[in-house]
Amino acid sequence: MARVLISYYSRSGNTRKMAEKIRDGAASVDGVEVVLQKIAETGIDDMRQADGLIFGSPTYFGVMAAEVKDLIDRSVKYFGKMVGKVGGAFTSSGGIGGGNETTIASILQAWLIHGMVVQGFQKGSHYGPVAVGAPDERAEDECIRYGRQMAELTKKLF
Ligand SMILES: Cc1cc2nc3c(=O)[nH]c(=O)nc-3n(C[C@H](O)[C@H](O)[C@H](O)COP(=O)(O)O)c2cc1C
Repeated sequence: MARVLISYYSRSGNTRKMAEKIRDGAASVDGVEVVLQKIAETGIDDMRQADGLIFGSPTYFGVMAAEVKDLIDRSVKYFGKMVGKVGGAFTSSGGIGGGNETTIASILQAWLIHGMVVQGFQKGSHYGPVAVGAPDERAEDECIRYGRQMAELTKKLF
């Protein structure tokens, strides 16, 4: 069964709320096992075992938070073993132009360097779900649809 790992860092809960909606969307796809974890609970072996990885971080100075980067840095142990997995990303920022897209891009860049498959989000925020502060109805809907899209892609490939 294809395995999707949704892992997030969140200090004040906004990114966590997005992660929960993405989990709901992914879990609506039959035949996919979905795991939701905090970054602090996620080890590099969890990353290695997952077929699809969707990471969330608050926007910190326009890029992912250090906790997320640290986990990804440690995943270099499996450099060459992540090729072909599915990768996605999402973020909550403080402001509308606060660097949310660059934050998502910073995570997607790591997935590309791992040789992973990144899919754009045509019917939503194009790089991945974005919320300003806590997710509103629009962002929640986007998270659900993104989770479903990424789980469907993972199921197709694994
Ligand atoms: C260290 C730090 C850096 C931040 N940098 C930015 C930033 O560059 N742009 C922005 O829009 N918001 C920035 N914020 C605000 C957070 O991205 C925002 O509050 C987010 O919703 C927090 O998500 P969380 O509730 O999941 O922790 C920053 C917050 C902190 C604590």
